[in-house]
Amino acid sequence: MIDALIFDSGVGGLSVSEEIRRRMPDCSLGYLCDNAALPYGTRRDDWLIERIVAVCVSACELARPRVLVVACNTASTLALAALRARLPIPVIGTVPAIKPAAEASRSRTIGLLATGATVHRPYLDRLIADHASDCRVVRVAADALVIQAESHLAGKAIDARTLQMAVAPLRAAAELDVVVLGCTHFPLLRGLLEPLMPDRLWIDSGAAIARRLSQVLGDTRSVPAPPGEASEAPSWATAPQVPSLGPILRRFGYSSPLALEITQPAVATPVS
Ligand code: DGL
Repeated sequence: MIDALIFDSGVGGLSVSEEIRRRMPDCSLGYLCDNAALPYGTRRDDWLIERIVAVCVSACELARPRVLVVACNTASTLALAALRARLPIPVIGTVPAIKPAAEASRSRTIGLLATGATVHRPYLDRLIADHASDCRVVRVAADALVIQAESHLAGKAIDARTLQMAVAPLRAAAELDVVVLGCTHFPLLRGLLEPLMPDRLWIDSGAAIARRLSQVLGDTRSVPAPPGEASEAPSWATAPQVPSLGPILRRFGYSSPLALEITQPAVATPVS
């Protein structure tokens, strides 16, 4: 049994895993990615709900975590209720940090970089209505950054023009003072994005998720293995054969991925 299984479509959840390890170095973690279906942000909602539930339910049967952390805004803004209905353990979601952004903004103009799916979801409309109703929120669908983040961790060159294009609508709003990274892949590019718009506050949800996990686990956390006996954190992937994935996961403290076979629903062609 592990304390928490961290789930994302790809390597984006590793940005959340880092925050969890910073806060709770002894927490036993596992990592799960549905990289056969990456990117999620351009797929149909009904297919995605079925897929996310199938992937998480099968992985939880194997990993037996105390808590599932959905380290993916695109999945959380759509499938949290379905996951909670199917799983007997607490499920922690990731949603864009609109509330802290609104609390921090002086100009009342904030920017959101997220996947196309997340920026158009009713969940986001409700989040803004509840916490940032007096703010102008510049929403940017930046799906191309998901692939850039995957490439960046794989050690491949970044396309500077793609990054420039993603932030262009935010730069056009001169008074904007806070940028929300509403996709867990994007903090992996933070060092490249921030210099494009310095003097703004850049916020993501990683630290808040780590705090929430610490509350949910409370005293039930597993006893850490004695030094020298610590075993590697397990990982699972739906396309474990992707050559760059094993080295990336090992760099973040996980074992090479085991195969998670999901036959239903099969991977469909992305919408766009
Ligand atoms: N990392 C995911 C998120 O936070 C999405 C990436 C994808 O489109 O698959 O939204």
